[in-house]
Amino acid sequence: MPIINFPFFKKKTSQQIELKKDNLPEHVAIIMDGNGRWAKKRGLPRIAGHKQGMDNVKRIVKIANKHQVKVLTLYAFSTENWKRPKTEVDYLMKLPTEFLNTYLPELVEENVKIQTIGDFDVLPAHTKNAVDNAKDRTRDNSGLILNIALNYGSRYEITEAIKKVVEDVEANKYTLTDIDEELFSSYLYTSNLKDPDLLIRTSGEIRLSNFLLWQSAYTEFWFTDVLWPDFDEVQFEKALYDYQNRKRRYGGI
Ligand code: FPP
Repeated sequence: MPIINFPFFKKKTSQQIELKKDNLPEHVAIIMDGNGRWAKKRGLPRIAGHKQGMDNVKRIVKIANKHQVKVLTLYAFSTENWKRPKTEVDYLMKLPTEFLNTYLPELVEENVKIQTIGDFDVLPAHTKNAVDNAKDRTRDNSGLILNIALNYGSRYEITEAIKKVVEDVEANKYTLTDIDEELFSSYLYTSNLKDPDLLIRTSGEIRLSNFLLWQSAYTEFWFTDVLWPDFDEVQFEKALYDYQNRKRRYGGI
């Protein structure tokens, strides 16, 4: 699949991209890739890229809110990211705390509601505490849902869901014939969310990396070479513009 790059967009500013008011994606998911390369290009340690990436999360939350996106799911740490050097893993685990220490008052002000998907139980206590506190403080907010994928892996999510379905069948809650896509979806971390309408991946990599495999069956994908810390309002609006000009047929004609 080619990387979508509209040459005529090159000089466009945010104001010049005309988005329709309707037909905006309700749920946008982002694979925030390229922090390490962003740092390397500047002769900085990788964690400096992650710090810049974290600050960019706040910028993109504000823009998503502005465009009335209802759910923004961000891939912050995958089940595979534990393979990275311990110092980097430790830093990545501190980022949610740092993000919330820095930005929670603003997020509360902006009516943002914090949620997570992923295997939460095995995260370090300091990460869990910061996130739990933020979930608590934003519980009644009715604006954008900022859904952070933390220790998330789609195959793990699906495998765990299967185990729970089997348990419930064995406990006679359901019979095999009751199991359909809707029931199965209710066992996933995303049970309270609609499937993503648009999935963005930055940094030029064109793969899903175990992110929302079930949920993205009919999602529109948008890839860009831009590294996550550089992904700004114009980039985001390009993705929204492109989404608005796609025909979603869900297998129909
Ligand atoms: C991938 O880039 C990025 C990550 C594994 C971490 C992403 C995390 C953030 C952007 C911040 C998280 C913020 C919150 C609020 C928790 P990479 O390191 O693989 O980059 P590279 O491919 O260039 O090396």
